[in-house]
Amino acid sequence: MAYRITSFNEYKQEYQKSVEHPEAFWAEKAEAFVWIKKWDTVLEWNFTEPNVKWFSGGKLNITENCLDRHLAERGDQVAMIWEPNNPDETVRKITYRQLHGDVCRFANALKNNGAKKGDRICIYMPMVPELAVAVLACARIGAIHSVVFGGFSFNSLSERIQDAACNIVVTADGGFRGAKDIPLKKIVDEALLTCPSVKKVIVLKRTGIAINMADGRDVWWESEVRKASTDCPAEVMDSEDMLFILYTSGSTGKPKGVVHTTGGYMVYVDYTFKNVFQYNDGDVYWCTADVGWVTGHSYLIYGPLLAGAITLMFEGIPVFPDAGRFWKVIDKHQVNIFYTAPTAIRSLEAHGLDYVKPYKLDSLRVLGTVGEPINEEAWLWYHENIGKGQCPIVDTWWQTETGGIMISPLVGITETKPSFATLPLPGVQPVLMDEGGKELKGNNVEGRLCMKFPWPSIIRTTYGNHERCHDNYFSHYKGYYFTGDGCKRDENGYYRITGRVDDVIKVSGHLLGTAEIENAINQHPDIVESAVVGFPHDIKGWGIYAFVICRNERKDVDTLRKEILETVTKYMGAIGKPDKIQVVPGLPKTRSGKIMRRILRKISEGETANFGDTSTLLDPAVVEEIKNGAVK
Ligand code: WTA
Repeated sequence: MAYRITSFNEYKQEYQKSVEHPEAFWAEKAEAFVWIKKWDTVLEWNFTEPNVKWFSGGKLNITENCLDRHLAERGDQVAMIWEPNNPDETVRKITYRQLHGDVCRFANALKNNGAKKGDRICIYMPMVPELAVAVLACARIGAIHSVVFGGFSFNSLSERIQDAACNIVVTADGGFRGAKDIPLKKIVDEALLTCPSVKKVIVLKRTGIAINMADGRDVWWESEVRKASTDCPAEVMDSEDMLFILYTSGSTGKPKGVVHTTGGYMVYVDYTFKNVFQYNDGDVYWCTADVGWVTGHSYLIYGPLLAGAITLMFEGIPVFPDAGRFWKVIDKHQVNIFYTAPTAIRSLEAHGLDYVKPYKLDSLRVLGTVGEPINEEAWLWYHENIGKGQCPIVDTWWQTETGGIMISPLVGITETKPSFATLPLPGVQPVLMDEGGKELKGNNVEGRLCMKFPWPSIIRTTYGNHERCHDNYFSHYKGYYFTGDGCKRDENGYYRITGRVDDVIKVSGHLLGTAEIENAINQHPDIVESAVVGFPHDIKGWGIYAFVICRNERKDVDTLRKEILETVTKYMGAIGKPDKIQVVPGLPKTRSGKIMRRILRKISEGETANFGDTSTLLDPAVVEEIKNGAVK
């Protein structure tokens, strides 16, 4: 591993080099990979259109770097350990050679079903090894994967399939999650009623529930794979060819298809994986994220496989069959590096130490967190009770749009500080802005987090709508990438992310748009209008508070609430279910019809006064009424 940083001094030198000579810096890192043809230009960029290209002219296939190149040295080493939802079901261990064969075979199955380079393929699957196989098989043949989280329901799935005009969907009959079975294929069938672009559905058998197979459209994974050969040469891809689309929530109801391309993404996730976690050959590494989110893409599949690591995939949830499951799995598989979300830590902390005590946890060397701010209490609990005071915690800040970790300690190298993501990785140039767009220099400042220079895995566009990419990320501060996060820089230059400053909320680490949730609530026939805000929640970080206006006066508000929850679950998915629902006579709107969310946020936080200037409201009296009916 030629480019692993080993000391804080070296980190500082590397950082300096990455700022002064970014092209030379990244070219050196890129040398470590298999390129079919070397690049012509390391970097071309501007943040005005924006237009960013890394390793232009380079030809490669990422799966050759994840799989083929490891075969000689570690073909018989385990690439993936799979822990099933049900602890009594058999664990699967898949070597690099087997994974290579499985990927090639499924790649041929995709081709036999009409897939070709440049096609968009939607993957809607449970957390089983075949999900990783499907992802890599797309990359093998140059098809662009668009993984949709299995917790999203039919409408969210349909929107994402339509936006990318996918021609194939890969799914399973169902999925196991804790005590629940998720009827994935049934949800796909419902979604496809509005997706004319889809010609084929490939269905893996997982739960065995009865499903409908549409003639000529739906085929079984198993029989397609049986017919396919294991010989599948990797498609030659340009560095800037799209690798995947991953949808993320925005402030409008419509999700954004974040586009990542091949060469830069590969170089950056590999570099960050090795350096942040300080992965050593043979370590068992476990990232608990679902592949439906970016963490699962970059640090469950691509990063670890590029590094030739052993990556663990877990099908289930942290509290099934009981709240000791994570710790049990760590002992069972002798996990060395464990990477999870603050919500999971807080929820397991709330279950009490009795669930931790039976386990040794002595294989652990490194702990990580991702996805939302971690509060000091949870950080300390994790450090003391899981890491036994011995394991450094890497609090990694990044985004779907950044492709890889941006601000984080390096294990054992950067001194950690609870609730701080600490320092930028080499290649990352953060700046803090005040609201007027002035850069805040020096330490001890707080502002909005932006980036002033591209890193190799930066978002290239939003699928099918480049203007949206410009407007969302590159228009707030001219010449900068805007993250949407608030951030502090302390007296030592350490960064602490304070949270979103736009209309998206991080609920249990999942990014959800308030407009997306409102659209789902509004599907209920009795709801005229709704407004959703986030409120601070002890376990989830943020909870969902919905204010709804009802068409007819409903006496039985509890039943109405239940119906709304059902509507949201069916239409969008259970992750969008509000924690609190208040029926209101009206919403605080300005004369131009804009909802003043600031007021709703205050009410949701339990404030009873200090609503600020309400003089522009059409009907200021409504504030009083809403306040009096607030759900505690
Ligand atoms: C938040 C997840 C604080 C942040 C990888 C960001 C964090 C959003 C952290 C992106 C962290 C992520 N500390 N906040 N360590 N990591 N976030 O796209 O608000 O699902 O903008 O990517 O998560 O969420 P996304």
